[in-house]
Amino acid sequence: MALADLFDWGASPLTIGISILVVLSTLLYYVTSRPALPKDAPKLTSISWPVIGSRQFFTKRWEFYQAAKASSKTGNFSFYAGEHTVKRDGSRNPLEKNQTEGSGFTGYFHKRVISLVKGNRLKNGLPKLMQDVRASLDKLAADKTALTDPFESIYGLVFQFTMRTVACNEIADDPALLERCLKLFESIESTATPFTIMYPALPLPAKLQRTWSGAQLYMIFKRIVDARNAEGRRDDDGLQFLMDQGDNVTDIITFVLGALFAGQLNSGINAAWTLVYMINKPEWLSKVRAEVVAMASRYCSDTSAPLKDQLIHVPIEAWESELPLVDFCLKDSIRLQTMGATFRKNVSERSIPINSTEVIPDESYVAWHVGDLHYHPAVYKNPDEWDPSRYMPGREEDKQFQYAWIGWGVGRHPCLGRRFAELENNLTVAFFVAYFDDLKLADERGSERGLPRSDRNNHSARKPSERIWIKYQPAAA
Ligand code: HEM
Repeated sequence: MALADLFDWGASPLTIGISILVVLSTLLYYVTSRPALPKDAPKLTSISWPVIGSRQFFTKRWEFYQAAKASSKTGNFSFYAGEHTVKRDGSRNPLEKNQTEGSGFTGYFHKRVISLVKGNRLKNGLPKLMQDVRASLDKLAADKTALTDPFESIYGLVFQFTMRTVACNEIADDPALLERCLKLFESIESTATPFTIMYPALPLPAKLQRTWSGAQLYMIFKRIVDARNAEGRRDDDGLQFLMDQGDNVTDIITFVLGALFAGQLNSGINAAWTLVYMINKPEWLSKVRAEVVAMASRYCSDTSAPLKDQLIHVPIEAWESELPLVDFCLKDSIRLQTMGATFRKNVSERSIPINSTEVIPDESYVAWHVGDLHYHPAVYKNPDEWDPSRYMPGREEDKQFQYAWIGWGVGRHPCLGRRFAELENNLTVAFFVAYFDDLKLADERGSERGLPRSDRNNHSARKPSERIWIKYQPAAA
């Protein structure tokens, strides 16, 4: 409504003035009303803006964290982020401190994720996953440019794996629909702006975009569930498992969307980074290829067949246990790409002491930057360097103390999809080195280049801000 419309309604300037004042003061109250910090909470950091608090936590997270920690006597500090009060806990093991229990929908969600990614389901799903990876790489092999951006192609392949395993074949088998769902997924993911997080109740445009994209995804899944019910048709996928449990449509769809979010981002980004890092270190490419050749030869007697065909005979047990070097490659990618902070809220209804003078007050969040550990030069030698040998016998930097490496989460809420994520990565890496030789990092014209930069201020695993391509040659048959 325009201001002139108010006059058309006969509102007096005084009424309009009072109305505007009420709206503004409500907004001001909303953004400034925040709980006072108790005396024994860690000291409030001075890196803060009036009214909105430490916006830097969202805009320059790693730099903010390091600067605030450095200027605190205890290494702990408090800050406000919009409506939320957050304390940084400097102890080595903050994740064990206090955690919410899974109940209601969360309990249902966890139970279903565990069922969908456990051994027998992964075993049954393996042939389809192998078909998916082969179809994607066949397409790349036929592409005359011999160049691919793995944050598009491999990320898309992992989306297909995830869709098939936690959701449905109708989408996984339809490239156009899969692409549309990926776009909607990315549109939702892009709406996590500082303001939407700091002021979740404000009707910001990003929130509307999120609701719109979520509604479209909801409708896509609803049509599939309804069609299966109407036609009495069954399929062998995650969706059918949920339907067979008698779950209601809203729970099923909410679950599927949540599982796509839990599964896609970390797995898709890390699978792409693993290839990129590996190609940048040719000695690791050779070691990994030798490991894949050795595994294939144990299950396919025809060692003269192309490696990509030998791999079809490898059973799930081998995919899960016979690629330790590929696991180390993923592990160091996760170490470098687990960006941002972990959070826990104190819901214990009491303050929790963290040392002799400071507490985490009730109802406040604890935030801890994973880089404090994963990028720490005292824990990881040359922490910026991707170097899987840091986990090998004799070095084992990740085993120096409990929780030296926490890429799969720790405590009572570790990653429930780890087994599936490792399988996805092993399939991707093994088939990629089987399909292609002469791998190089390149720019869009195919000229060789080095690693793209990663921004440690990111809040989660992310595609690099500068695009990168992999240049390849199909392996000789
Ligand atoms: C490389 C891939 C992955 C990485 C690095 C990763 C990492 C993590 C981490 C660090 C956590 C703990 C978060 C916290 O403490 O707040 C977590 C939780 C979780 N992950 Fe993953 N994840 C990956 C893939 C997956 C996949 C593929 C799925 C499912 C399909 C999945 C499902 C979950 C779920 C459901 C939780 C929540 C567990 C709970 O709250 O108890 N993850 N993941």
